Amino acid sequence: EKGTYPHYMLKEIDEQPLVTRKIIQKYQDENGSLTIDSNIISAVNDADRIYIVAAGTSYHAGLLGKQFIESWTKIPVEVHVASEFSYNMPILSANPLFIFITQSGETADSRAVLVQVKELGYKALTITNVQGSTLSREADYTLLLHAGPEIAVASTKAYTAQLSVLAILAAVAGQGKGLNLEFDLVKELGIVANAMEVLCDQKEEMEAIAREYLSTTRNCFFIGRTVDYYVGLEGALKLKEISYIQAEGFAGGELKHGTIALIENGTPIIALATQEHVNLSIRGNVKEVVARGANPCIITMKGLEEEDDRFVLPPVHEALSPLVSVIPLQLISYYAALHRGCDVDKPRNLAKSVTVE
Ligand code: F6R
Repeated sequence: EKGTYPHYMLKEIDEQPLVTRKIIQKYQDENGSLTIDSNIISAVNDADRIYIVAAGTSYHAGLLGKQFIESWTKIPVEVHVASEFSYNMPILSANPLFIFITQSGETADSRAVLVQVKELGYKALTITNVQGSTLSREADYTLLLHAGPEIAVASTKAYTAQLSVLAILAAVAGQGKGLNLEFDLVKELGIVANAMEVLCDQKEEMEAIAREYLSTTRNCFFIGRTVDYYVGLEGALKLKEISYIQAEGFAGGELKHGTIALIENGTPIIALATQEHVNLSIRGNVKEVVARGANPCIITMKGLEEEDDRFVLPPVHEALSPLVSVIPLQLISYYAALHRGCDVDKPRNLAKSVTVE
């Protein structure tokens, strides 16, 4: 039920701190340590390569899952769009593990790949929000998101839940190989949940940004480097699907290789700058587009802020910044859609789960 909320999407955005805390709790043992079924951890650590397969927002979560798994377990990971994988299968390693990320557990494109890889005799893990869903039933293993029903077509809380579960999976698997994280993930996810709460209380600021940058624009670009690039892809998808503004996410360094031709006077550029090691380079990319007339909205993290930044995120562990940097993007999309009179919860041409190929 929506309760007092005007839209499910806003309610689901607001649920993210709670969902994050719930996930921590669901994946903790009685001593408070993170834990995952040992069969799943063996399946991960026995694999010589992991193939993540997903669609849409879940694919964007997969790109970040690759970062967590490669950094924390040292197992190589490939991330594939489900609809492409079926017809253009990559060369597989000798001992692959497949991870399907799907909020609904019913996406036909992802299921088609699951059927294919099961036929080839490989093991599959499904990370889903829906217990008993098709992709959960047909995989060898399931990890649940515990995000509660997601009703709005635009996925929000499922995305951050996917990131939390992928981070926990990577951390526990790494630990199983004797690779311990240099920080306490339970504590840092708790800090993330608090930061999410702070952001959910800043709706007026998000509405102001949406009004300032997006109320009349035809298009909008999201740029970032490394993880900020992946979050930008998700920000662009959110914005286009509910506000119908043409929005694209780009790696900061890639824009000048063609797309910069689209920058005109006033074109909004939402730039994420949350990562210290690429802070100078992304800011250089912002200067390139500003020199062509772009209207930049720089979203940064406390500690990296500069004078012209539009919004400063509360500080969290750098590796977990996507869990918080996506929230302003979700809220900005929500308000942009609202200002432009769009049906936020049920955008045109879209269904909540895409059960046709
Ligand atoms: C975006 C969105 C879609 C889904 C995609 C995959 O907001 O909702 O892009 O993410 O259709 O759906 P699941 O995760 O259910 O497989």
